[in-house]
Amino acid sequence: MPHRPILAAIAAALLLCGPAAAEPRVGIIAECAACHGIDGIARDTEVPHIAGQNERYLYNQMMAFRSGKRAHKEMRYMARAMSVAEIAALAAYYAALPPR
Ligand code: HEC
Repeated sequence: MPHRPILAAIAAALLLCGPAAAEPRVGIIAECAACHGIDGIARDTEVPHIAGQNERYLYNQMMAFRSGKRAHKEMRYMARAMSVAEIAALAAYYAALPPR
């Protein structure tokens, strides 16, 4: 079976590329971290923890900030600079972090 290792390598490459492509930009995580903490656990009592929160919930909240349905100056500003794909990636990123 000379093809097997090649197929395995392709499969591994796809697996490695898959999640990486959906990852949010490094720079944007640092921006969120200013308020929500680098680990998604906010240090400020005015800011919610987002680590370990339900992915769908996070996605819906960011979309609501983006459209203005959920009113908040800073989050609207942040969310309007993001694409839907990036919002989805951020929701997945923070949902995967350990909750407090
Ligand atoms: C300037 C500070 C600030 C920055 C920067 C910021 N946030 Fe927020 N974020 C807040 C505050 C404050 C709230 C709570 C809003 C409210 O009271 O409705 C919030 C709410 C949220 C919520 C809703 C949480 C919930 O429990 O309902 C999500 C999701 C979120 N932020 C994600 C992000 C992401 C992702 C980034 C980076 C792209 C980011 N935020 C950047 C301050 C910030």
